[in-house]
Amino acid sequence: MNGILEVERLSFPIGKQWDRGDFQQALRDLFLVSGEKEVSGFLIACCRENERRAVILRIAVRPEVRGRGIATMLIEEAIEIIREMDIREVELEVDIVKRGAVQLYETVGFKIARGIPMIDNNTMDDENGSYYLMKLIVNES
Ligand SMILES: CC(C)(COP(=O)(O)OP(=O)(O)OC[C@H]1O[C@@H](n2cnc3c(N)ncnc32)[C@H](O)[C@@H]1OP(=O)(O)O)[C@@H](O)C(=O)NCCC(=O)NCCS
Repeated sequence: MNGILEVERLSFPIGKQWDRGDFQQALRDLFLVSGEKEVSGFLIACCRENERRAVILRIAVRPEVRGRGIATMLIEEAIEIIREMDIREVELEVDIVKRGAVQLYETVGFKIARGIPMIDNNTMDDENGSYYLMKLIVNES
């Protein structure tokens, strides 16, 4: 768990970081970890089989090993597991400022379903917390 918390701390700003309790709760979700001696990345997805829907809640990769396809591998692995659960659709939310992350999700097949502006001023401004809802159909029927 300490390795996960370290990658979390290195990947998200203070105030947006998950704590040990958040990760402990996520243990009942799909929780993938990559790395051998140390944790290089992780992905957490909540699978609602009755709704045939899954949500990727969190993904992060240790800064020194980014750009080597670790996140892509974690997402592809998660999609395979989710597909076997007969879930129809995977979705996630991503801040519109995180262009690298948006590109990563597009590379594995996600499409922007909607842009959600911050309620305050109803603009899709970069820094105001606006985000995209992205979706991927994993089982057509
Ligand atoms: C987003 C994140 C998980 C990507 O991890 P990664 O292992 O470096 O990703 P990959 O190596 O699999 O990248 C795959 C593709 O995503 C895109 N990409 C990823 N990060 C990028 C960046 N910073 N800038 C531009 N494109 C990026 C590229 O298209 C890349 O393909 P390429 O290497 O062929 O150019 C990682 O940067 C991270 O942990 N960021 C902080 C936490 C975060 O923002 N999580 C996402 C919350 S929605």
